[in-house]
Amino acid sequence: MSTAQLDFDEWFQSTVAHTTAVLDEFLPAVDEGHQRLHEAMRYAVLGPGKRVRAALVYAAGEASLEAGSAASAQREGLDYAAAAVEMIHAYSLVHDDLPCMDDDDLRRGRPTVHRRFNEATAMLAGDALQPLAFELLAQMPVAPALIVQAVQLLARSAGSFGMAGGQAIDCDSVGQVLQSEALQQMHRMKTGAMLEASVLLGGIVAGAGSAVREGLEAYAAAVGLAFQVVDDILDVTSDTVTLGKTVGKDAASDKPTYVSVMGLTGSRELLASLREQAHEALRPLGPTACRLGGIADFIVGRNH
Ligand code: IPE
Ligand code: IPE
Ligand code: MG
Ligand code: MG
Ligand code: MG
Repeated sequence: MSTAQLDFDEWFQSTVAHTTAVLDEFLPAVDEGHQRLHEAMRYAVLGPGKRVRAALVYAAGEASLEAGSAASAQREGLDYAAAAVEMIHAYSLVHDDLPCMDDDDLRRGRPTVHRRFNEATAMLAGDALQPLAFELLAQMPVAPALIVQAVQLLARSAGSFGMAGGQAIDCDSVGQVLQSEALQQMHRMKTGAMLEASVLLGGIVAGAGSAVREGLEAYAAAVGLAFQVVDDILDVTSDTVTLGKTVGKDAASDKPTYVSVMGLTGSRELLASLREQAHEALRPLGPTACRLGGIADFIVGRNH
């Protein structure tokens, strides 16, 4: 393994540990407020997720901060933004797993929230994680104008023109044959939007200028789509223990996916080209964007 790869792995591992500690701190305690609801929120968020969205926030922040700048307020702001995207993401998984959506029993190697608790609690845990994410953004120790931009971006990306809209298309698409443009649109909305938001939030909080933001946008569009293409592939090629969720669900539920529309080979070719696009977009940003390059490789090469 190359030194650069070892360096990235170490950075990623420490970022995952840091993110989990930050989430733990920002989540409500079980012994205050409604115990079961708070337990379910903590269970949903603190399970062993990959924390890719948080890593994108931190890596994009690093690529956007002035070289050598101490910028401690911005660095603290990144903690709030990283926790916010992971909370929206966790809420989207809890609702995605409900019987009225994908009806899944296993997530992150453990029973899904509605299986571990009950359906009403799963709905409410998602309902409560969403506003908590916005509360965290509102508390960021950065300029109010940047907070407004961040709130607007996250709201748009999680809403009916982003994740929730993509999930609605996903529900409508069961049993349908989608053309590749429609499939791409669904994937960009249900999954790409939140990954893109993660990258751009890192840029906003760290005060990225317009040239850097342009590079981040192009990078984010490529990794956002790539992430769901890999998710579709793993549903076919992985096993339930490695993935921590039941494999083969897409075909069993008759969902159109990249594998069903383009086949495995076509999907892998598309991935290689999206990975290239991601690296191409980072080139003008220089060496401070190296973590983002590492995350693109991780997303494309991951096995869970
Ligand atoms: C799974 O996301 C849902 C999709 C958007 C494809 P992740 O694969 O990032 O899930 P965790 O957070 O690691 O569990
Ligand atoms: C989920 O897509 C996307 C969101 C949760 C927004 P999937 O339904 O394919 O995700 P998994 O495979 O259940 O993680
Ligand atoms: Mg789904
Ligand atoms: Mg699902
Ligand atoms: Mg899936």
